[in-house]
Amino acid sequence: MGSFIGSKKFVIFYLSFVVLVMAEVVSSSKFDELFQPTWAFDHFIHEGEQLKLKLDNFSGAGFQSKSKYMYGKVTIQIKLVEGDSAGTVTAFYMSSEGPTHNEFDFEFLGNTTGEPYIVQTNIYVNGEGNREQRLNLWFDPTKDFHKYSLHWTPRHVVFMVDETPIRRHTNLEHRGIPFPKDQAMGVYSSIWNADDWATQGGRVKTDWSHAPFIASYQGFEIDACECPEATATAADNMKRCSSGTERKYWWNEPTMSELSIHQSHQLKWVKANHLIYDYCTDTARFPTIPAECVHHRH
Ligand SMILES: *[C@@H]1O[C@H](CO)[C@@H](O)[C@H](O)[C@H]1NC(C)=O
Ligand SMILES: *[C@@H]1O[C@H](CO)[C@@H](O)[C@H](O)[C@H]1NC(C)=O
Repeated sequence: MGSFIGSKKFVIFYLSFVVLVMAEVVSSSKFDELFQPTWAFDHFIHEGEQLKLKLDNFSGAGFQSKSKYMYGKVTIQIKLVEGDSAGTVTAFYMSSEGPTHNEFDFEFLGNTTGEPYIVQTNIYVNGEGNREQRLNLWFDPTKDFHKYSLHWTPRHVVFMVDETPIRRHTNLEHRGIPFPKDQAMGVYSSIWNADDWATQGGRVKTDWSHAPFIASYQGFEIDACECPEATATAADNMKRCSSGTERKYWWNEPTMSELSIHQSHQLKWVKANHLIYDYCTDTARFPTIPAECVHHRH
């Protein structure tokens, strides 16, 4: 009897240990393990490892992660709407909730057949966005799947396309500039009609005779610190994810806080050849240059 209780205790101890470790860093490539549809379930098409989201004149569609995360890397492979995608926007982003939320956005703005997509990125810190950058890509994103990643460490947020950094937002807290670091974020993606602004400034409208518009997904990867909300330990989890005292997370490694020399060159190349809009240089919109832009220049 005694030994029975003992082994039961051991099993419970062992199970809670496993749950604790699993709850911290997740890494998976299966849609169903990581995500759930949030709206328009009937606009989801599952084909093996691939997922397709459909936009028609009734609805778009969207999904979100089942959990929230602090730091790490999230990657999704996307093949954007082929042919005429004018008026459509496909988005992939991380966001926390509430009026002072943080958000890291990829928005893919569709175009008429044969004309290039625009990738718009934006960053919200404490509920404030207005940090748009726009670029075109060095490939046709409608022909194949490409990897789009958000890489978030205590030192920076890096947006990547096929592992090439296209944007880096550095932590400049030592200069009094807030950095997103105290709110766990969910991972989201959706496709919707935005023909009031998306394509050529809203001049080209969605041609519904070309619907349905389909964005395809595969290769979902979340390698991040999981912070389940609505648990008594949410705050503890967030502390554990960011402190790195109990355990060494890769995003706390010094080499992860800087771009490699190769990555810095790649980022320079993207800025020189593919950047078409940067809020930092939009003096009509921001007569006073935003504080982080002054320092990000270097
Ligand atoms: C669409 O194509 C036109 C013409 O090439 C280009 O000016 C525009 O930036 C492209 N992208 C969007 C989203 O309008
Ligand atoms: C949606 O588009 C189809 C095809 O163009 C059209 O027949 C239908 O009436 C439209 N439905 C709505 C709700 O606009």
